[in-house]
Amino acid sequence: MFTQPIPTIRRDGDAVVILDQTLLPHACELRRLTSLDEVATAIHAMQVRGAPLIGATAAYGVAIALAADASDVRLEQALTTLAATRPTAVNLHWALGKMRERLSLVTPAERHAAAWREAETIHRDDAEMCAAIGGHGLAILERLAAGLDRPLRVMTHCNAGWLATCGAGTALAPVYAAKALGLAVEVWVSETRPRNQGLLTAWELREAGVPLRLIADNAAGILLARGEVDVVITGADRVAANGDAANKVGTYLKALAAREHGVPFYIAAPFSTVDFGCADGGAIPIEDRGPGEVCTVLGVDGDGAVKTLRLAPETTAAANPAFDVTPARCITGIITERGVCAPGRLRDLYPEATR
Ligand code: MRU
Repeated sequence: MFTQPIPTIRRDGDAVVILDQTLLPHACELRRLTSLDEVATAIHAMQVRGAPLIGATAAYGVAIALAADASDVRLEQALTTLAATRPTAVNLHWALGKMRERLSLVTPAERHAAAWREAETIHRDDAEMCAAIGGHGLAILERLAAGLDRPLRVMTHCNAGWLATCGAGTALAPVYAAKALGLAVEVWVSETRPRNQGLLTAWELREAGVPLRLIADNAAGILLARGEVDVVITGADRVAANGDAANKVGTYLKALAAREHGVPFYIAAPFSTVDFGCADGGAIPIEDRGPGEVCTVLGVDGDGAVKTLRLAPETTAAANPAFDVTPARCITGIITERGVCAPGRLRDLYPEATR
């Protein structure tokens, strides 16, 4: 199984150590989170990010919160605090729901240890789901690459690699599986303004020795129109029951252009990202992160110091919807840990799902 070059999160006694993603790819710093507030802030501030990793971090946050007080009141307070950190990625609520379910079965005296066990299970399961998604996605890549005398060209958006999960990633898991098998793949990586998660994707891929080209977000259309993309694969933050999928803002435009030019467009996501409680994408809450991120950019100066630079005057009016919804009709298939399905057929893969 894929081993993360640096664990995105790991237990360290009664705390967790995370890789702070707000500084990447310019600086690599680890942070030790020792309290509920620190975990909630790390999720909200995107020190950890990516739907599956947000879920696992929140689960660990519950365990950390119960160290001194494992009463029902404290448990509810932890669940409520963590649930409010970010609105769109349903993995957060899935993980907190699992924690609530598990911890309601044990006495307060048993709760702290049980919380760590459950959080570690969520962590391990996510890594396994990533591996399975990688295998199913690899079959798609192999099929598309058959007969080509050049590398297969994959386009992705945002970061849905190992940094976003506890394992190999979702959208990038098939790419890593292809690399391991010796199948030649190149990746178009869009920068993903305003938070530039594409830079994280470029960093991951470069470290793994996968050829990539970074593009401005607005370049995706011309590449798809020119036939320079064989397949688009992105992750998701929440997939509705009908297969509409919320992912990082800009995903929708890629899906539209891919459809127009006959390029297959896949969403790669585990069960923890599926929300059968949302009938369609219109019910998915879309995070608005405020104008600041649009008017600034993170970079390094000549001395290598990481700095936030102002792009537009502080008084500039700006809007910042952080996600958009790709309608099921634009999605060729959803790559899950149980296999690949048409977007409207998720129920076939998860007949036992109660939510
Ligand atoms: O705002 P972020 O960086 O948490 O958004 C991440 C994404 O949109 C990812 O594409 C998505 O969570 C899938 S991660 C495997």
